[in-house]
Amino acid sequence: TKDPLVIFTPSGKRGRVPLGTPVLTAARQLGVDLDSVCGGRGICSRCQVTPAFGSFPKHGVTVSESALSEWNGVEQRYDDIRGLPSGRRLGCQARIQGDMVIDVPPESQVHRQVVRKRAEARDIVMNPAVRLFYVEVAQPDMHDPSGDLERLRDALATQWDLPDVHIDLPVLNDMQPILRKGGWQVTCAVHFGDAAAPARIMRIWPGFHEGPIFGLAVDLGSTTIAGHLCDLQTGAVVASSGIMNPQIRFGEDLMSRVSYSMMNAGGAAEMTAAVREGMNALFRQVAQEAGIETTDILDAVFVCNPVMHHLFLGIDPFELGQAPFALASSDAMNLMARDLDLTALPPAARVYLLPCIAGHVGADAAAVALSEAPDKSEDLVLVVDVGTNAEILLGNKDKVLACSSPTGPAFEGAQISSGQRAAPGAIERVEIDEVTKEPRFKVIGSDLWSSEDGFQDSIATTGITGICGSGIIELVAEMRLAGLVDGSGLIGSAAQTGSDRCIVEGRTNSYLVWDGSGHGGPRITVTNRDIREIQMAKAALYSGARLLMDKFDVDKVDRVVLAGAFGAHISPKHAMVLGMIPDAPLDKVTSAGNAAGTGARIALLNRDARAEIEATVRAIHKIETAIEPRFQEHFVNASAIPNSVEPFPILNS
Ligand code: FES
Repeated sequence: TKDPLVIFTPSGKRGRVPLGTPVLTAARQLGVDLDSVCGGRGICSRCQVTPAFGSFPKHGVTVSESALSEWNGVEQRYDDIRGLPSGRRLGCQARIQGDMVIDVPPESQVHRQVVRKRAEARDIVMNPAVRLFYVEVAQPDMHDPSGDLERLRDALATQWDLPDVHIDLPVLNDMQPILRKGGWQVTCAVHFGDAAAPARIMRIWPGFHEGPIFGLAVDLGSTTIAGHLCDLQTGAVVASSGIMNPQIRFGEDLMSRVSYSMMNAGGAAEMTAAVREGMNALFRQVAQEAGIETTDILDAVFVCNPVMHHLFLGIDPFELGQAPFALASSDAMNLMARDLDLTALPPAARVYLLPCIAGHVGADAAAVALSEAPDKSEDLVLVVDVGTNAEILLGNKDKVLACSSPTGPAFEGAQISSGQRAAPGAIERVEIDEVTKEPRFKVIGSDLWSSEDGFQDSIATTGITGICGSGIIELVAEMRLAGLVDGSGLIGSAAQTGSDRCIVEGRTNSYLVWDGSGHGGPRITVTNRDIREIQMAKAALYSGARLLMDKFDVDKVDRVVLAGAFGAHISPKHAMVLGMIPDAPLDKVTSAGNAAGTGARIALLNRDARAEIEATVRAIHKIETAIEPRFQEHFVNASAIPNSVEPFPILNS
């Protein structure tokens, strides 16, 4: 008689195994992803499977209940104490006695998928760098002169097929009492580094420790630092938290921080200490929010721009402040928490920094590339991360190009007369009636559209305080559509436009958006100078994108992805009316939200993604806009609204 046939779903993997083989063993033999932390001892329940009985014409088998062994004592005990969900069996205990169809539920798969909501975005497949392994270690003996570590390593090699596991010194320091406390049964957290680095024991618990264990995905921005605490076994985000970057006291923007380090001896070191302290505070905050100890955070992934990258690592960013903008290193970094004074984490906790792409295109852009995967796209996709520096990627599966373009702070509401950061009270959406030229607008903190005639009560509680970046983009675009501003960016007079909101005072033309003086608030206007600032910022963004299109030898793109918090709030139509992004079908312009943060999370949850983005970054062609003569030419053309030479046919159709 033949050995029984076993078919695993959903993988479809199948094969024959000897009668009486435990399901876990069969899964391993057939390369099926079935989890285990206890190594088949009936403790962890990670190996749960759902046997299926009945007729399966698709697989050509009929399965009776007797094809799987009855519950044994271990399973019975587990069910008595912790309860097995109905229909489930422990894969390490149940034995195969006939042809079988066995389903592996997602929670029993190490490499389960964490599904993302956006259809075009890649799903995250779990493959964390840190995993738990329970082992039973041989006791020391007068006749066997080996050390405790050597016996622990033997146990990992024989019980888990993990040969040659190293240990971090801080872990070795604590190891002996833990082995004895656990009665020679311990759980090890093992970190799998890159191909060149050996697996290392980074934490040991006495007895069986099922977790949870955690990792942090950190988006280290110049203004804010955001941390997402993830369960390293399920992939779930258990808490997210943010703090202001404490380096702000040394300068609002990156260049002022670079100059602080140039002007002050020890300035860079001061900023390094500040950001590391802030990081420790953030870790404590996010752990407290989740109700966990920071000592259970074993892995952390960081993404940041090049200046933040250098300051976090303790490298003086001096060279990044001047041409040719050489990075100290663009490589990804594998470090330990104690290397970076991250005292909130266990000393052997791992820190991974994504690689930088170039002197102006940082690990944050690499993370965007990981999240949005232009290198896997059939379509030609333009990915724009809009900040004070726009980081731009253009590519498809054949090639990816990257550049950065200095947009300045106008999109953050800075240098705009009524501008402000996106916060309650800021106008974020604007519509102007083409006939009456009267504006309606929406303010952050209120769901209602308001105008001076229909002043909404809800706004009275927040007050209208200014216009944020997305508001100013819509405002200028709506003014252009309503004929209040011409293609060169000049606001017409009341006589020219037919709107007495257009005011000419001396050499300043302006458009009155809202007169709050009657409500005790400010008068909100947009001036020619404000429009000039927006023209410069959007021209910088567009010409960066256009330059990459030249290099690709195309004059249109298939898709546009707007990344970043700001990108999430921009209206694609208005951005296109301004000529800020290239002409494309509006339904092909999407927002990716915080793609850099998502990229950090992907790298945290899947160690293969780290090798993948390192290879992608090496293959990305970097374009330096400052030395490209065509950049200036594109910039001049793109200063007009939408553009003095490019027709924007799709927008106008
Ligand atoms: Fe741990 Fe089955 S492998 S209970």
